[in-house]
Amino acid sequence: MIRLAACFCALSLGASCLIVSRADVPSAPARETDSVTVFLSGHELGAMKPCGCSGKQLGGLDRRDAIFRTVPKEKRLIVDTGSLVDGGEEQDLIKFDIIVQAFNLLGYDLVHLTDTDVEVAGNKVLLDSIGSLFDVIAAPRSADVNVPAKYTRQFALKDGAVAVTIAAVDPQVTSAEQIQELFGSQPGAEAVNMVILSRSDSATVDSIVAQAPAVDCVICPPESDEPRAVARRQNRLLVFSPGRLGKYVTRLQIYPELKKPTVPRRAEAQEAGTKEILSTTHSGLQIAFSAVPITEDLPQESSQVQLYQTYQLLLKETNILQRLPRFTLPDDLEYAGSLACAICHDEVYQKWRSTRHANAYATLERVGSQYDPECVICHVIGLEYKSGFVSPELTPDMKDVGCENCHGPASEHAATAGAVELGRPRSTCVDCHSPEHSTDFAGNEARYRQKIVHWTEQNSSSNVK
Ligand code: HEC
Ligand code: HEC
Ligand code: HEC
Ligand code: HEC
Repeated sequence: MIRLAACFCALSLGASCLIVSRADVPSAPARETDSVTVFLSGHELGAMKPCGCSGKQLGGLDRRDAIFRTVPKEKRLIVDTGSLVDGGEEQDLIKFDIIVQAFNLLGYDLVHLTDTDVEVAGNKVLLDSIGSLFDVIAAPRSADVNVPAKYTRQFALKDGAVAVTIAAVDPQVTSAEQIQELFGSQPGAEAVNMVILSRSDSATVDSIVAQAPAVDCVICPPESDEPRAVARRQNRLLVFSPGRLGKYVTRLQIYPELKKPTVPRRAEAQEAGTKEILSTTHSGLQIAFSAVPITEDLPQESSQVQLYQTYQLLLKETNILQRLPRFTLPDDLEYAGSLACAICHDEVYQKWRSTRHANAYATLERVGSQYDPECVICHVIGLEYKSGFVSPELTPDMKDVGCENCHGPASEHAATAGAVELGRPRSTCVDCHSPEHSTDFAGNEARYRQKIVHWTEQNSSSNVK
């Protein structure tokens, strides 16, 4: 069990916390024949696909379809809770557009736009065009943005109908009493009411618990990559966050209360390490929450793969890499490039040539990401600096993880034949071999170092020819 954010746990009376995860491709439990499934993703923050630097990474828009496909269209609602990108830079705008197209191809029904999304989308024309692909909601914030705050869809079940309503709420603007008023009765259907909060803290959740009994689910902005959930108020109100960076899809299965539950109750569930949280709506329906990790073994969907290639092509065509702002290095230093070191450090140079560092740019070419600054940055020398990498044609000695990635800019050292010393390496391995990009590094530092050894501990000049 993973620790929950304080926000959910601290004040929840007798509620227990459980993170839910499934290692397998989700199978369809028996009750799915008479249930409605709401899939929720969110807070992609521009992550469309894992970088692939290291194995066992979660995520990828191209693998989501495998999860959605487990439920027929008329029995599912696909919702994104927003924050498609992380900022408003040129690359974010390109990503925003691509992610919107991806959602459209994936059959999203509803997208909740956060303040950032509304800002990035920028103007009404863009918002209207997004709204023509799927429904959008946003918390009421400014008069000039004409996006509804609420969405309802009705589903037929064997013994009646279910109406799922999702409202976007900024708790600084809308009180719990006003939230209660958002949800009217649904003629001829059992209502399931959810709010997506644009910000949350335990006080907000508590006031909803106390003053908005019509609410069945509260969806909070995530505080971690992993989804988190908890059932509160005698297992009545489900509070959860969908996680970040598209690593999981969360799933709510809504079904009539079964006489004999096919899944263990929550108390037992925890003991058995089971992967679901159960909750009951105010109208007596059951909700089973689970989070499905997007693992590498889920099949890729081809139109999404193509869309990602289109994205890489757009980066190439807009020439975003060469137009990056570039800074000058302090003390008039410049990068000299790895070949410049070979004259005096030939043995070290040859040793370096045989390591994977000397192949790091070719690796990006192999996967087609050599025009993406977010990738190139760790796979070349000095991308952010004037004397650093620009392109393989203009700066052939700056591609790959070169000498100066670790030793720092060495123009002066090279020009003075070593008289100006470099001192100890300036970068540490973990600057690049972070847990995200190099899963195996932590705990295996010695093995990694062994693979690139080109130093003698006693005498640093012994490698100099
Ligand atoms: C013209 C010859 C020459 C060139 C070119 C040269 N070096 Fe050196 N380098 C030396 C000499 C001589 C020493 C030994 C200095 C000593 O140990 O006192 C040295 C030592 C070093 C050391 C260890 C000691 C220290 O200064 O911290 C590093 C690291 C190093 N060089 C990196 C580089 C890199 C990286 C490049 C290429 C950008 C490079 N060198 C280019 C001559 C050169
Ligand atoms: C500027 C970023 C950067 C720094 C700093 C860096 N690395 Fe790397 N390293 C990479 C990249 C990128 C690759 C993958 C190259 C490829 O395969 O294309 C890599 C690959 C490796 C590999 C090959 C992995 C394998 O399984 O064979 C080893 C070993 C390695 N690095 C060791 C180190 C050590 C030790 C340090 C610190 C002294 C270090 N690296 C610092 C970026 C970096
Ligand atoms: C923070 C630095 C960093 C960034 C950013 C980065 N990489 Fe890497 N990449 C690494 C390191 C470090 C390794 C070597 C990991 C290892 O072997 O442990 C690596 C290895 C790789 C590999 C080789 C994997 C293998 O085993 O063959 C590929 C492919 C790769 N990266 C692609 C990308 C792509 C695509 C992006 C952009 C989406 C990217 N990288 C961004 C640091 C980075
Ligand atoms: C991935 C990081 C990394 C890369 C790339 C790298 N080095 Fe080093 N280098 C180190 C580390 C770490 C040491 C050990 C220094 C220490 O512990 O003080 C070292 C030591 C050295 C030394 C001192 C040798 C000795 O006898 O002690 C020289 C010279 C040197 N490197 C030159 C180079 C040159 C030239 C290149 C490129 C051809 C290069 N290095 C590439 C990390 C790197």
